[in-house]
Amino acid sequence: MVQITILTQDGKATAIDAAPGTRLLDIVQAAGLPMEGTCGGAMACSTCHVVLGEADFDRFPAPSEEEDDLLDITCGVSETSRLACQLVITDAHDGLKVMLPAEVRSLLF
Ligand code: FES
Repeated sequence: MVQITILTQDGKATAIDAAPGTRLLDIVQAAGLPMEGTCGGAMACSTCHVVLGEADFDRFPAPSEEEDDLLDITCGVSETSRLACQLVITDAHDGLKVMLPAEVRSLLF
C-alpha cells in the first residue's frame, strides 16, 4: 500500500492507503471524496480533474495527446493538472499529494 493525501478546497486533507495498480479515480471515489468521474474513465467528461504539485506531476508518465486535448477545454486547469482516470498508482507514488479543484464541469452534457 502507498499513502496518498487528497486535499480539498475547504483545506481538509484526507490520507488514503491505496493499492498499487489502482487508478486514482477509483481510489478517490472509494474514499467517498467528491469526484464524479461521469464517463468512468473514457476521457470524455473531465470531472476527474485533479491538480498535482510540480514534483508529483513528474512522478507520472506524460499525459497522452487525448488527455491534453481534454484538459485544454477543462475549467480551472493549471500546468500540473491531470485526469485522475488516467493516473495509475504504483509503489513509486507513496506520499503523493493531490488537490481537488474548486469546480468541475462535465463536458459530456
Ligand atoms: S472520468 Fe471522465 S475524463 Fe476521467
